[in-house]
Order: sequence, then structure tokens, then C-alpha cells
Amino acid sequence: MNINFTYLPGDGIGPEIGTAALRVLNATAVAYGHTLDIEEHLIGGIAIDEAGVPLPTDTLESAKKTGAILLGAVGGPKWDHLKGGDRPELGGLLPLRKTLELYANVRPAKPYTALLDAAPIKPEYLQGVDFVIMRELTGGIYFGDKGRDNLGAYDECRYTESEVNRIAIRAFEMARTRRKKVTSVDKSNVLETSRLWREVVNETAKDYPDVELEHTLVDAMAMHMLSRGKDFDVILTENMFGDILTDEAAMLCGSMGVIPSASLGAGKLGLFEPIHGSAPDIAGKSLANPIAMILSGAWMLRSSFGLNEEANAIEHAVEKALDAGQCTADLGGSLSTLEVADKIADYVD
Ligand code: NAD
Ligand code: IPM
Ligand code: MN
Repeated sequence: MNINFTYLPGDGIGPEIGTAALRVLNATAVAYGHTLDIEEHLIGGIAIDEAGVPLPTDTLESAKKTGAILLGAVGGPKWDHLKGGDRPELGGLLPLRKTLELYANVRPAKPYTALLDAAPIKPEYLQGVDFVIMRELTGGIYFGDKGRDNLGAYDECRYTESEVNRIAIRAFEMARTRRKKVTSVDKSNVLETSRLWREVVNETAKDYPDVELEHTLVDAMAMHMLSRGKDFDVILTENMFGDILTDEAAMLCGSMGVIPSASLGAGKLGLFEPIHGSAPDIAGKSLANPIAMILSGAWMLRSSFGLNEEANAIEHAVEKALDAGQCTADLGGSLSTLEVADKIADYVD
């Protein structure tokens, strides 16, 4: 098969973990008789520097054409003085997600046995943890009206019923393929958008009588996730809560560097990216853990190209490397980004 996808390395550690993921994808393609047809484009800070805008037209066109996008990360101190849509995040990543209508961001948390001691949480709280966060990605406070006035600053948070309904459906559908439980997270004791959220989720739940539904306030959820993470199956939440809770969930798994994500919409189009950022503190030092990016690549193979066996092979190879202690410093190892990628590529073979 010709695996035609859009590759957007972006900023900071993005190109490092990107090169690592391409090595593994390439080894997989060779092992299974496929060819990689990579369309590399600019996004984020590097796009601002080289093309004058954070999301160049040819980047967006390629993304729409291939329908499969592998992205590293955007942003960094160099562009932090920029405002609003001139920024790598607000002008690059967010419009990419929004324009492609990738409203469902799926972020799994299932600690690897080999990493139980790498996490800052005691292993007894990690055993049995296996949940997925279904994060709404194209609405809420991220996309509301923002600005300054003579009093200060404001960010508007809005959700429509249909925006809540479509992400709730995804959560219930996913729960049906898993342990049949949805935990919806909101702040309905304070926010009107959360009250709407809860109403719509309850309404949607009527079509899924076989799925258990519970509601939790986000502050309490931050605690429950650490103290009884194994009780959760599909965690459904809005954009900003999902952003925050997924970084927290990463710590159950040992590092930000091991969690991939898929951003999906109504059609086949998919954006695959690690949940972490451009990690400016370690960029350029070959310290970045490439696993989240490698697993995002595997997810792309499965979701966009139907290459299940190939995706499984990569996921097993990652597990083998972790079992052998072949990892980067964030997980207590001593290998470089590309050394880890080479080990994983070897295991795929
Ligand atoms: P970050 O996720 O980049 O880093 C947080 C911490 O985790 C850092 O200490 C970093 O070194 C570590 N870390 C992250 N990824 C790692 C990896 N693969 N291996 C080892 N350690 C890793 O978050 P931040 O520092 O708050 O943000 C830095 C920049 O990244 C900001 O400009 C932010 O806007 C951007 N960002 C982009 C994305 C994205 O493009 N999807 C996501 C989050 C943050
Ligand atoms: C993420 C990131 C982004 C988000 C930023 C860079 C806009 O933190 O993908 O988790 O908040 O969605
Ligand atoms: Mn985030």
C-alpha cells in the first residue's frame, strides 16, 4: 500500500520525535511491503519564521488531501511574545483542528507494566488503570471571543447542544467497545456551559441504556484520577478540562512522552499527535522520548489506512523496548531519542 500522509514536525522537540517516528514507520513499511509517501509541511513557529504565517495554505491543503496527519508539536519561547492568531498555537494548531472539524480528541491512559515504578504515583494506584479521555476539541473557551477592554481581559466559553451531543455519542459508542461506562466531567455547580453539557449528556445517554453513566465535577475528578483511576473507562469532557486532565493522566503512565492521541471528526480524516508539547527545556538535546509520537504513527496506520497488524507490531515493539529498559531519561533510561527509535524499529522487524 502507498501510505500517503501529511507530516508536520513543528517546533522544539517536534522534529526530533518526528524523525524517530519516521524511522519506525519506515521499518514497518519495509517489513510489510508498503511505501511511505510523506508530504512534509510547516506549522507553528517554524512556519511563522519560514513562511510568515503559523498555518500556511499548502499545509492545510495537504492535510485535506491526504486526510492523515502526523504532527509533532508547536510553540516555544521564541514566539511567546506574539498575540492571538499570530501565535503558533492559536494561529496554527487550533485552526488546523477547527478547519478539519476534528472535534473528538481521544487520549488513552493505560500504564505499561514496565513503567509502574517510573510514575510518581505508588504502583498500587496504577494497577488496573485503563481509561480513555474523550476530549471535545473544537469548542468551548478555546474558540470563544477573546480580547481586552478597559477593564481587563475576557475569554468567552460557549457550547451548542449539537457540539455536546456529537462528542457524547462518541464517548458512549467507545464505551460500548470497552467496559461500558462513561464518566462525564464538568463544572456544573458554577458554569452554565457545564449545565448544558450535563443535560445533553443525560439526554444522549437514553440511547445507550447498556452503558453506565456518572457525572463528576472536574476538581474532584482531578483527585479521583490519582486515587482510584482504575474505576474509569471512558472519561468525557470539554476542551479545557480535557487538556488539563490528560496531562495529569500522563503521570499515571510514567511520562508525558508515552501518550499518543487521535483527533477525529465525522469522516475518515484524522490528526495524530502526542499529547505533550514542544518541550523547549529539552529540545535539541536528543533527550525527548519518542514513544508518544511513534504510537501516534501506529494509530494513524490503523485508523487512516486500516493497517491493524502493522499498528499492533509497532505497539508490541514499544512494549518490548520498555520491558528491556531501553528508554529515554524521563523514564529513567539513558538512551537518546533516535536510539530508542532504532530499538523499536528493530523489534518491528
Ligand atoms: P510540554 O508538554 O512541552 O512540556 C512539559 C514537560 O514535559 C517539560 O518538562 C518537558 O520536557 C516534558 N516533556 C514533554 N514531552 C516530552 C517528551 N516527549 N519526552 C520527555 N519529556 C517531555 O509543555 P510546556 O512546557 O507547558 O509547553 C511548551 C510549549 O509547547 C508551549 O509553547 C506550548 O504552547 C506548546 N504545546 C504544544 C502542544 C502541541 O503542539 N500539541 C501541546 C502542549 C504544549
Ligand atoms: C494539547 C496542547 C494544546 C491544547 C495547545 C498547544 C493549544 O496543550 O494539545 O494538549 O491546549 O489543546
Ligand atoms: Mn495540552
